Order: sequence, then structure tokens, then C-alpha cells
Amino acid sequence: MKSLALVALLCVSHALVVASYQLSQKGQGWTHLILTHHWPQTLCSMEHVTCHGFDYWTLHGLWPDKTDMCNSSWHFNASNIEDLLPTMKKWWPDLLHSGSTKFWKHEWDKHGTCAAVLETLNSQHKYFSKALELYKKVDLDGILKKFNILPSTTYYKLDDIKGAITNFYNVKPKIQCVVPSRGEDVQTLGQIEICFDKEFQLTDCVEYSQELPHDNNEILTFDISASSGFSVCVDSMQVYYPPTETRH
Ligand SMILES: *[C@@H]1O[C@H](CO)[C@@H](O)[C@H](O)[C@H]1NC(C)=O
Ligand SMILES: *[C@@H]1O[C@H](CO)[C@@H](O)[C@H](O)[C@H]1NC(C)=O
Repeated sequence: MKSLALVALLCVSHALVVASYQLSQKGQGWTHLILTHHWPQTLCSMEHVTCHGFDYWTLHGLWPDKTDMCNSSWHFNASNIEDLLPTMKKWWPDLLHSGSTKFWKHEWDKHGTCAAVLETLNSQHKYFSKALELYKKVDLDGILKKFNILPSTTYYKLDDIKGAITNFYNVKPKIQCVVPSRGEDVQTLGQIEICFDKEFQLTDCVEYSQELPHDNNEILTFDISASSGFSVCVDSMQVYYPPTETRH
């Protein structure tokens, strides 16, 4: 009788181990993709580098929500995306280390390996080309311009920026800002996220409170001082959309 109980106990604990193993199979369990754009001027001044010539929103990444770093043995190899590189350099540049592929490697390692559970994204070529395709489709620059939201030394209301995007796409974006330094009362526009479901249809970005804490502040965290960061823009504070520095 005792040994039967022991066997039962072993079975239960085995089932638990299997269940938790399956849960920890990373890459599973995400529900939407976040197409993240950043405003080069904001990032570059935050990191004290100059990145001339980028007077448009560039791509930061395509991120499954709720998970990251799903397969450390699937190495990034730029020769898989050789044909995409000229396009990537233009729309998905590494603003902080120009000429390097390190940013794309990081995006693949952290996010692409998780996105790859979808058959439509299960190779480096599929992942990077889909991100570029969605970026083109969204055309954030075009939309903001259309609604007359242009980089400017005068400030915007967050609602005007949100409104333009929501109006056009009929989905809620997530907008991130650099928080003001002490004594200032203006936040600086940094990132705009547009979300997609697994069929690549536009969908609302998840509300702030429903997210995991580690998803809130993603910036180019590799190689960057942890002191800087973005947070979700505050409705009540005016927004600075900084004009791109021109070369002197
Ligand atoms: C991780 O990537 C390697 C190399 O592409 C692949 O062989 C392996 O099946 C992947 N593992 C999982 C759990 O997807
Ligand atoms: C990258 O892929 C190319 C082509 O498949 C291959 O020749 C090369 O050895 C790979 N590089 C690395 C570092 O794995």
C-alpha cells in the first residue's frame, strides 16, 4: 500500500516536472508582436552620440510580448540576410555602432528566437524581412506628417500624437518617452510601438498594467548605461518631439 502511494506520488511529481518544463519552453505563450520604432534624435542625445542623417523613425525591433531569449543555440549569421542588409541599414540601423551587425544579432537572440515558434517567422530571413514589411506597412513617418505632427521646438499634447495613430489605424499604440530631468515639465518622445497579432493583423497594444515589468523599458540595453531609459508617456505632460540635429 505504501509503495503504491509512493508510485502515485512519483507520478504526480513527474507530471509536475513535465508541466513546468513545458511551461518554461520559452517562445510559447506569447500573444502579440510589438513593432517598435525609435526616434533617432532622442536615442542619440540620450546616449551622447551623434547620429546624423536619420530624420525619420527607424525600426528598433519586432518583439513577441511576454518572453525573450528563447534559443541560445540558434546563432545569428548575417549571411542569412545578406540580401536584406542594404534595406536594414537604411530603416533598421544600429544608431550607436554604425557599420556593425551587433544590434541585429541582439534583436535576433532576444526576440527573433521567440518569434520563430511561428512557421511564418521560423528563420532569420523570414523574421527580419517580416519586420521590414510591417515597418513599411505601418509607415509611421507618413502618418505623423499627415496629421501635421512634425519634429518641432514647440511641444505637443500626448493626445494629439496618440490620436493621429489611433485615428489612422484604429488601434492603440504604446508611446514611450524619456522622463523629464528634475525641474523640467516636458517629456521627450522616444519610442512608438504598434502591435500585431500572430496573423500580422493590427491590434491594440496591451495596457501598461498588464505587462511584465521587464517589458516596460526596453531600450538598446546592450552596451548602454542602465541609467537611461524610456517609460510610458504621461497623458498630462507636454511632449517634446526633437528636431534632428543638422551637421555643422
Ligand atoms: C534551437 O535552435 C537550434 C538551431 O537552429 C535548433 O536545432 C533547435 O531545434 C532549436 N530549439 C528549439 C527548442 O527550438
Ligand atoms: C554563416 O553562414 C555561412 C553561409 O551559410 C557559412 O558559410 C558561415 O560559416 C556561417 N558563419 C558562422 C560564424 O557560423
